[in-house]
Amino acid sequence: MSALRGATVRDALDSAVIAITASGSVTPRLDAELLLAHALGVQRTALFLDPGREVAGEAVRRFQDLVRRRSAGREPVAYLLGRRGFRHLELGVDPRVLIPRPETELLVEIGLEQGLGARVLDVGTGSGAIALALKDERPDLEVAATDVSSGALAVARENAGRLGLQVTFVEGDLLGGLRPDVILSNPPYVAEGAALPRDVAGHEPPDALFAGPDGLAVVRRLVSAAIASTARVLAVEVGAGLAAVVEAEAVEAGFTQTAVRRDLAGIERVVVATR
Ligand SMILES: C[S@@+](CC[C@H](N)C(=O)[O-])C[C@H]1O[C@@H](n2cnc3c(N)ncnc32)[C@H](O)[C@@H]1O
Repeated sequence: MSALRGATVRDALDSAVIAITASGSVTPRLDAELLLAHALGVQRTALFLDPGREVAGEAVRRFQDLVRRRSAGREPVAYLLGRRGFRHLELGVDPRVLIPRPETELLVEIGLEQGLGARVLDVGTGSGAIALALKDERPDLEVAATDVSSGALAVARENAGRLGLQVTFVEGDLLGGLRPDVILSNPPYVAEGAALPRDVAGHEPPDALFAGPDGLAVVRRLVSAAIASTARVLAVEVGAGLAAVVEAEAVEAGFTQTAVRRDLAGIERVVVATR
């Protein structure tokens, strides 16, 4: 990006868009707007209200650094901002956790369908996205969450504290010894060696992404643990094309019914197994 001394918001955005586009982002203008608003310490809407505003001083250096990290380093915007919106919440995120994705909201919706006071467990909570959104929208539920990553749990606990949401966090494998009525999980489900965009492969935690040669190593163990537990419902997010396999494994394990929910792109994204 060329020097920005004395540039307006409009100029600064235009030159950042060129740099970010060249690096392959599919949302270069949005990225540039979010980064400039962050560097200036304003809401994104303020940029549209005053496009002739001068970008000066320390904000120039901050913005150039952010654009360089986004374009040359392909760092995800959510990590650069340190936050990501999910349902009604603003969650803190950093490279210890997966950046929550919109399709994962399907799991929250399944949680919202559960009866009063149900014990719901989010397995592999990462930033705490599913557990915290659910507790926020259904305070009556008893919500717990596990993760094997102590770093991820530190982020989730920090989010819970800042948002004032009461969720029990347990560091441990799968169900972590808890006794839920309902299990919701977005586990790692990418096949080892699969090609991923640079933003993802280079920055998001590998343990949150990869699960064995076919991507099902954690899901298979989760299905077994769920059927051996108190849970009457298991809802698990799966990779594209894997829903039928996971449904068959759930029935094989002893679940009596399965259903599949599609995401907004029409992809079979969540398997719901009940007994
Ligand atoms: C795909 S990320 C999902 C994070 C978060 N639930 C979300 O949807 O944004 C998977 C998470 O599962 C955790 N994980 C991986 N294997 C696990 C296991 N065996 N038991 C519990 N958590 C696990 C990872 O550390 C990671 O935080």
